[in-house]
Amino acid sequence: MAETEKKPVKIVETALRDAHQSLIATRMTTEQMLPIIETMDKAGYYAVECWGGATFDASLRFLKEDPWDRLRKLRDGFKNTKLQMLFRGQNILGYRPYADDVVEYFVQKSVANGIDIIRIFDCMNDLRNLSTAVKAANKEKAHAQIALSYTLGDAYTLDYWKETAKKIEDMGADSICIKDMAGLLVPYKATELLQALKEGTNLPIDLHTHYTSGVASMTYLKAVEAGCDIIDTAISPLSMGTSQPATEVMVETFKGTPYDTGLDQNVLAEIADYFRPLRDEWLDSGLLSPKVMGVDIKTLIYQVPGGMLSNMVSQLKDMHAEDKYYDVLKEIPEVRKDFGECPLVTPSSQIVGTQAVLNVISGERYKTTTKETKAVLAGEYGQPIKPFNKEVQKKVIGDKEPITCRYADLLEPELEKLEKEIAQYKQQDEDVLTYALFPQVAIDFFKYRDAQQKKVDVQAADSEAKAYPV
Ligand code: CO
Repeated sequence: MAETEKKPVKIVETALRDAHQSLIATRMTTEQMLPIIETMDKAGYYAVECWGGATFDASLRFLKEDPWDRLRKLRDGFKNTKLQMLFRGQNILGYRPYADDVVEYFVQKSVANGIDIIRIFDCMNDLRNLSTAVKAANKEKAHAQIALSYTLGDAYTLDYWKETAKKIEDMGADSICIKDMAGLLVPYKATELLQALKEGTNLPIDLHTHYTSGVASMTYLKAVEAGCDIIDTAISPLSMGTSQPATEVMVETFKGTPYDTGLDQNVLAEIADYFRPLRDEWLDSGLLSPKVMGVDIKTLIYQVPGGMLSNMVSQLKDMHAEDKYYDVLKEIPEVRKDFGECPLVTPSSQIVGTQAVLNVISGERYKTTTKETKAVLAGEYGQPIKPFNKEVQKKVIGDKEPITCRYADLLEPELEKLEKEIAQYKQQDEDVLTYALFPQVAIDFFKYRDAQQKKVDVQAADSEAKAYPV
């Protein structure tokens, strides 16, 4: 590259979404975010990833917060920075495929409440499951980014990535992300991958990885040298381990080169100063485990995302079968093979992990299956890169004819029915979407919200009574 040719790398800060999802089970509260967002807005980030993924579920379920309210508050604070969310294609932010009308309405409301960039992925990398969300994002004039879940296997050749990139461009996406949720992409493979993607498309390419296997910052370096346009990083107190490489480190790495990010280290230092005491609190309370902070080389050997391993350990513990850990670890790639070598990312990671546990514990493969396993093998989650294992498919779904069309084409619109079901709790348009995704959790939250409001009303009446004694 000629020295005068500048090609600044764009930085997406993940502190408010993936970093805390990966390190502290998505427990950062809106209150913990708000004091620093004005400063974050000055850092020069291309975007801040702050919504979607597991944050929606966790806000409602554990923090008793309205995720829509969080988004509106973030939007108010971030005057100059684009806000990005993670969206699970037809599964939205939930764990099952939804009808198109729900997907479209969710996209519309996400944009209306402040989202600029929607990163859309599918757990099977079945592009048909992304089309409704991409079209909806286009319609709302949001930036539609399609994320391919990075995974390994003989079918995932450079040609596959290149051709898929081309298809993504044809679908009307504005950029492509390679989403390496397990940290499997190693530095020199990143060079090859980026070269292949660049041959397939002119769209900007964003690389998203995790530090889990210890190679992430080197991978970013090689990817950027090979033309990667955007990288995802986390401010240092929320970086490394199962999270992303540290923002400050990557910024310093590219300083003075054609890839200079232009981010201000002094502002980044202020942001890090804010999060450091919070990190200490999380460590003290046990929410942040030192275990997730190290290098976990198992992820490279078994090609299993770190989060899946910890899930599996807790499932085995519940069943008093911790001694079966290595058996399950060996079974996971076998189940993945039966499932057409799909990526392991929400929700396929949970489905494959749970089925592997059941296969080992019951002593006979697919003797016991979950309803999600049945749905995968019936084609409801989409078509993976390879065909399903026919024998396994037969054993699990019997004579039922598996579908090969886009599953959502078979679904009736859902919104009208959902609206009726929550009419008595509804306070805002978005409530129906909250309910669509997590029916029981949403109802519990709506009841809690009502109770809180009554409490506030009573307090207000009390203080009014005191202010105006009669
Ligand atoms: Co991630």
